[in-house]
Amino acid sequence: MTHATPDPLLDAVEVLVKAWTRIGPTAVPPSPGPRDATLELVVAERTVVATDQDVVSFQLSTTDGARLPKWRPGAHLDIHLPSGRKRQYSLCGDPADRSSYRIAVRRIPEGLGGSVEMHDLPEGNTLRVSRPRNAFPLAVPGHGSPAERLHFVAGGIGITPILPMLRLADALGVDWTMVYVGRRRDTLPFLDELAAYGDRVVIRTDDTDGLPTAADLLAGVEAGTAVYCCGPVPMIDVLRTGLIGRTDVEFHSERFSAPPVVDGRAFTLELENTGEVFEVPADRSPLDVLAEAYPAIPYSCRQGFCGTCRLNVVEGEADHRDGSLTADERAAGSLLPCVSRARGDRLVVRADLY
Ligand code: FES
Repeated sequence: MTHATPDPLLDAVEVLVKAWTRIGPTAVPPSPGPRDATLELVVAERTVVATDQDVVSFQLSTTDGARLPKWRPGAHLDIHLPSGRKRQYSLCGDPADRSSYRIAVRRIPEGLGGSVEMHDLPEGNTLRVSRPRNAFPLAVPGHGSPAERLHFVAGGIGITPILPMLRLADALGVDWTMVYVGRRRDTLPFLDELAAYGDRVVIRTDDTDGLPTAADLLAGVEAGTAVYCCGPVPMIDVLRTGLIGRTDVEFHSERFSAPPVVDGRAFTLELENTGEVFEVPADRSPLDVLAEAYPAIPYSCRQGFCGTCRLNVVEGEADHRDGSLTADERAAGSLLPCVSRARGDRLVVRADLY
């Protein structure tokens, strides 16, 4: 995900979201709570939302009927799975629905187990869930944003944060276009919901159209457009490259996988607690290597901003590549192994991985 940054436009968007969602006279503002407070939600409904059966949406409701904290398009939840894993999923439902949240998860059998665990959750199961957070906020043209129109690009399950964005844009009468890409049509979730927008949503699949180029993804993008993209890293890179020199176009992106390691070098990682030694290749993160031995190792964003994967360095020099630790935290030995590494050949860390 992109790093969360304060956005002065969000308040303006919030007002619009409230108007759009028609909050009624009996609405009660959510109780303020600490930012990291969690909610206990129940899996009220599971629905298969892609023809290949590998994407399931989950409607998560409160157990006592209380109103849920509000959210804006682009927000996500941290889901605490029964195994102890923590995963982030974008909210893809209706912000007007204060009785439940909707997320959708693609099952990735070759992944680290979080998506499979989610898919195995039956209706009625309870989950601990963070309050919504937004690392991918939408600024609406004509309502605070200097852009004149919006162009959305979604890759596969990257449709999830885009769905509420385009609903809001549509409800506000904003000029928008969209390209939705995937490997095959049967892998694309929410096609039925997108059908309501007709040809405004261009669907391209690799099996019939080939891999999309920047020109394909940016077809019709004119000066004054804000592009919002969520998808795999290669697709975002294609867009970013295609927009080099386009100072007349804004670009906002959220990726759903860890960034590739750039200029990495191999090193040895030692766990002080157990004495185990791991070889971290130049192109992998220490977190990925540790997760093979400890599948329940805590992590969430895998992009260096949530702090979930924090370890303590007890020996060696760290190459900090995160965007969230303070100088004091780094000086005290904190390290975020999803993105950070060793400066030298060896790093000894202390971590509670059991
Ligand atoms: S997993 Fe979020 S900072 Fe490492």
